[in-house]
Amino acid sequence: MNYFKDKVVYQIYPRSFNDSDNDGFGDIKGITEKLDYLKTLGVDYLWICPFFVSPQNDNGYDVADYRNIDPAFGTMEDLEELIAEGAKRNIYLMFDMVFNHCSTEHEWFKRAMAGEEKYKNYFYFKKPVNGGMPTNWVSKFGGPVWEYVPEFDEYYLHLFDPTQADLNWFNEDVQNEMCDILNFWINKGVRGFRFDVVNLISKPETWENDYEGDGRRFYTDGSRMHEYLKLMNSKAFGNGDFITVGEMSSTSIENCRKYSGEAEKELSMVFNFHHLKVDYKNKEKWTVMPFDFQELKQLFVKWQLGMQENKAWNALFWNCHDQPRSLSRFGDDKNYPKESGKMLATTIHMMQGTPYIYQGEEIGMTNAYFTDISQYRDVESMNYFEIMKSEGKTEEEIYQILADKSRDNARTPMQWNADINAGFSTATPWIGVNPNYTTVNVESALEDKESIFYHYQKLIQLRKTHKAISEGEYVPMLMEHDSVYAYRRVHDEEEILVLNNFYGKKTTVELEDVEGYEVLISNYPNKDIQKTMELDPYESIAYIRK
Ligand code: GLC
Repeated sequence: MNYFKDKVVYQIYPRSFNDSDNDGFGDIKGITEKLDYLKTLGVDYLWICPFFVSPQNDNGYDVADYRNIDPAFGTMEDLEELIAEGAKRNIYLMFDMVFNHCSTEHEWFKRAMAGEEKYKNYFYFKKPVNGGMPTNWVSKFGGPVWEYVPEFDEYYLHLFDPTQADLNWFNEDVQNEMCDILNFWINKGVRGFRFDVVNLISKPETWENDYEGDGRRFYTDGSRMHEYLKLMNSKAFGNGDFITVGEMSSTSIENCRKYSGEAEKELSMVFNFHHLKVDYKNKEKWTVMPFDFQELKQLFVKWQLGMQENKAWNALFWNCHDQPRSLSRFGDDKNYPKESGKMLATTIHMMQGTPYIYQGEEIGMTNAYFTDISQYRDVESMNYFEIMKSEGKTEEEIYQILADKSRDNARTPMQWNADINAGFSTATPWIGVNPNYTTVNVESALEDKESIFYHYQKLIQLRKTHKAISEGEYVPMLMEHDSVYAYRRVHDEEEILVLNNFYGKKTTVELEDVEGYEVLISNYPNKDIQKTMELDPYESIAYIRK
């Protein structure tokens, strides 16, 4: 049961990672070329975002064929080579399963549109209600969740883009198809799965309007969720050392305790996003607000303690392909990039759970700071650009919001060196390179012994050598402190104490018990522990005692 607790996962957004054939678009061979780099970092698993056949309206999260590779990313042979080359280095792959919806270019949807009842049943086609849409729900990408099909005088459901049709999990044929797809990839040697927005697959039995919100309360963490997860577990990944992680949208801790509870046989672990909403003004994403540190702290404590109590497991992360860069968001990418980058890393890697590193995080990549809509590529950002305009916001406000919140911040090409296009490609990349690549890049990080990269490398190694990190109990500390997030990790014979200053000013902490601690890792020259201690800007220290 504990096989994944000392492991670290690295997330790859393949179109932006490394372009082996120089067409401006990253590919699978590009990943294989960089396996030695990933080995140097020390990660165990690669979660690779979807590279399946897709019209790419949502960058591959609109899958048209779950068993084949999109030619833009390469071939099945390329993928088999990546799996084999990874295994040689003890690096294993986790694939991204987008099972809530598929592309409207998928054969299932095409046959549904041709009127085949069997396939119409794979989706949610509904008759109009009072001459209009079946419900008033709002899509995650803006606009209604229903698309009208005149031929049938029916609507179909899409919680995301109209080209991403929701799959009907009530239908056992759909359930079986999904389990078959998992087994297809398991047979190819895949060792884990990330399930996209998986807690949205259990839809309600009846469809009603939401007069309080956008509809999510009716389709999130639905009543058959645990049944569906147990089904995939028993039919596909339950027998063997697979790592499975569910992306849980607007979820509750009660559900996550079950989704990943050791006794439940559902998933290994879960992503929740509550800690990444602490800079949403009035719970709205498309706003600008400095993050609320107290709320962040309380959420960490709540999820650490709450999951631990049920032997459930958190995926630990600041970044992914849907989030702005943490260094720009929670750190200071201008004045304290190294200090705050390392502090954020320590905060996450020392908690209980499995850390996920998103490509570029380990070298301190920052937000893109785009200034014009022509630089953006993401469907959600482009939709909200129009929506915010129609709401009467000024262009200046809108650009500020996009610069802070757009998913494209995470999607600019990986910065390998100071050569043209950051060494990602010799052709013009599909999305602009962050101009700071001349200083922020892998080559210079590897040359600098004090770089953020080596801090990550050390954190990964520490997880493998200290049970207190991989398995220890989590105990919060200094809850009242206004700029420090602190905790202890307690295991049979060792104990770790972690102090993280989240601000660019000095601060003081008062500690009660300081006997016998030694520095384990820090982002400033080592400092002995003291009852009254001054911490430097963004200082982060972990102490250990045996
Ligand atoms: C998840 C993915 C995101 C995608 C959405 C729809 O949130 O991470 O990139 O747009 O699901 O599949």
